[in-house]
Amino acid sequence: MKVLGVVGSPRKKSNTDILIDEVLQGSKAAGAEFDKIFLNDLKIKPCQAECSDYCKKIGYCKINDDMSPLYDKLFESDAIILGTPVYWYGPSAQLKTFIDRWYAFCHPKHVQKMKGKIFVLIAPLEETDKSAAQPLVNMIKKSLDYLDSKFHAKLIVSAGEKGEVKKNEQAMKEAYKIGMKLKL
Ligand SMILES: Cc1cc2nc3c(=O)[nH]c(=O)nc-3n(C[C@H](O)[C@H](O)[C@H](O)COP(=O)(O)O)c2cc1C
Repeated sequence: MKVLGVVGSPRKKSNTDILIDEVLQGSKAAGAEFDKIFLNDLKIKPCQAECSDYCKKIGYCKINDDMSPLYDKLFESDAIILGTPVYWYGPSAQLKTFIDRWYAFCHPKHVQKMKGKIFVLIAPLEETDKSAAQPLVNMIKKSLDYLDSKFHAKLIVSAGEKGEVKKNEQAMKEAYKIGMKLKL
């Protein structure tokens, strides 16, 4: 099984990144191979809505940037761990921009490739009331339903300071367990 961790926070070694690492380590213990990308390190242009004329018909995005090789990476992955801090009750701009570019998946030849993939959402937030993450969870759930993919698990953790989540033993264990239990 191939697992891809996608870090949507600009902060390396912080809450999103740390939790994704735990999921990836759990998946490794269960025998998976994994890779991780930091969206903030990449130059990914926002969707220019050319798709109705181009990507939906041709099957790939007209924009040639750091997103281009990621399409194949996504197709090759069995499980995709999406991580984003809650930013204004939604995803970070980095993750939203990445997901917008999935519009090329609407092409019939890609629909089958994305069908049944396992997705996990990792989302730290500052507020103690985790319902603040609900708009983000809904957005991800609806998008995955649209792609016929599987929303395997979500981990919403209250942690505001950089790296604070490390002190939350329960959340760290939960992340590891999610990684161990990724199944097609
Ligand atoms: C621009 C911005 C917007 C934020 N919006 C929210 C929010 O709406 N609700 C919340 O609980 N925390 C919010 N936060 C706090 C982050 O979600 C929180 O610090 C998180 O742990 C950051 O994850 P990271 O350490 O992986 O970057 C916001 C932080 C920033 C910088």
